[in-house]
Amino acid sequence: MTRCNAMEDIEWDDIQGLLLSGYPQLPFSAYLVWRFRPGQRDAARHWLADVAERLMRVERGAGKGPSIQALKAADGTNPRAINLALTASGLRKLDLDDRRLRQFSLEFLEGMAPKPTVPTQIPRRSNLLGDAGDSLPAHWNWGGWSDDDVDGMLLLYAADEPTLHALVNAEIQAMKAAAEPVADRRGSGPVILKGRLYDDRKEHFGFKDGISQPTIEGSPLAKRSRQRLKQKTSAAAYEEEGGKALSEKGQRISLVKPGEFLLGYVNERRECISDGSARGQANARDLLRNGTYMVFRQLEQDVPAFEDFVASVAERLHGSTDPDKIEDVAARLVGRYRSGEPLVPRADDSPDKPDRNDFLFSHEDGAGLACPIGAHIRRANPRDAIGPDPDTALRLSKMHRIIRRGRPYGTRRDSEQGKSNGTGAGRGVAFIALNADIAGQFEMIQHSWLNNAHFGGLYSGTDPLGHAPRTGDEFAIQQRPTNVHVERPRPFVTVRGGAYFFLPGINAVRALATEASGH
Ligand code: HEM
Repeated sequence: MTRCNAMEDIEWDDIQGLLLSGYPQLPFSAYLVWRFRPGQRDAARHWLADVAERLMRVERGAGKGPSIQALKAADGTNPRAINLALTASGLRKLDLDDRRLRQFSLEFLEGMAPKPTVPTQIPRRSNLLGDAGDSLPAHWNWGGWSDDDVDGMLLLYAADEPTLHALVNAEIQAMKAAAEPVADRRGSGPVILKGRLYDDRKEHFGFKDGISQPTIEGSPLAKRSRQRLKQKTSAAAYEEEGGKALSEKGQRISLVKPGEFLLGYVNERRECISDGSARGQANARDLLRNGTYMVFRQLEQDVPAFEDFVASVAERLHGSTDPDKIEDVAARLVGRYRSGEPLVPRADDSPDKPDRNDFLFSHEDGAGLACPIGAHIRRANPRDAIGPDPDTALRLSKMHRIIRRGRPYGTRRDSEQGKSNGTGAGRGVAFIALNADIAGQFEMIQHSWLNNAHFGGLYSGTDPLGHAPRTGDEFAIQQRPTNVHVERPRPFVTVRGGAYFFLPGINAVRALATEASGH
């Protein structure tokens, strides 16, 4: 029988830092998509062995690499972080045999956009993800249905632009003999997507992002929250990643078993996704352990089209396009105001904070009169709303959570550069989701909730921030005496690239370096 690590024993020093942190101290990032050079296995081995020692990890362990604590304690001199992820194609090129490859999940091995076997038929996975119309993988800038393999990604983070620039150049130089950046299909050079975390943490439609995240049981934040609760009562103890603690209700909503995000640990089904090696044996060949899957999607946002839509709905609903009416409509599409404040009203004992996250739908807004049933956050995490009863629903929702680590890319529309770039400017979200089970988590959210026209008993509408094209798509606003239905002409988001990656534990990267040598 498969043995799992107990959650108290999470091997943080073997885990890449991205799992626990979006590196808010390092607001400049670059996502460098690369592929191995053919016939250079020795160089690949050297490079992987070298990069393994530079990967940002959660805690400093036996290896030489930096840790998140070190980052926090850094004296401000050019701190940086590097994380590494590989696709199934990358693993194959490292000569992993079939037995080892089969330990990875089917959807990872198949990839985000398997090519059509029958030219006229869209493969099941693209259908499931809603990758059709303008988002069809045939049109992607990278990844997708082309013959150019994507073997991996370097995720690079820095505190300022010059440091990031230097880091990108240094890493391209370091990989030179082993791998090369993948070229953007539009002929605009290598795929190096630049992410940027702004001080206000807003994405391009203007909403504060990255607020609601699951908290891994056994993580420092979870431990802190437990301790705080022992000392104080609920509302006084509030949440802020890296800061304080989750309230009692916040814990009920956000605490999730480590196995939902880490391979080799117990998940919400009390199962363990692992390749079965026994705990305690630090087997360098245990590739899955302390790793997770990383979904990366380049989601382009058409900001002017979104704003026009919001204004037209405000006119229809309120007979006015005054800023407060616009804000009301925009908030209903997302489920939070642009400030981050949720639409679900504040419970009496809930703290008055814009990043408030300890709310439930079924209990507090069952009919969707405050936060529409089809709003983005209600679909993406229905909390206690979808299930036979609210308590079971909340338990079930924890089997479908993701950790989001994405950031906006491209210039902001209100910046000088952004204004001159106009409508077609390439801006969007470099979307990153971490999960142990792509099919049960990311794909389930995308397919069964965001793309589902009948979500929560709705009649005909998909996620207002979604990319899946659908004739007759609409957004329903629940209100008394009658609901309002507004037609959404087309998606405001288009998929421009993406792939499924594996974010290995640090020892697994070392083991891969050995595998690649054929020993
Ligand atoms: C361009 C596309 C997208 C934009 C602009 C966007 C924006 C947002 C915003 C503003 C929030 C609320 C702030 C927060 O709770 O962090 C949010 C929450 C969320 N989004 Fe998205 N999102 C996009 C795509 C997606 C996709 C593709 C998924 C998953 C497949 C997703 C999953 C989530 C989840 C899980 C939450 C948290 C919900 C909660 O726990 O309350 N988003 N998003």
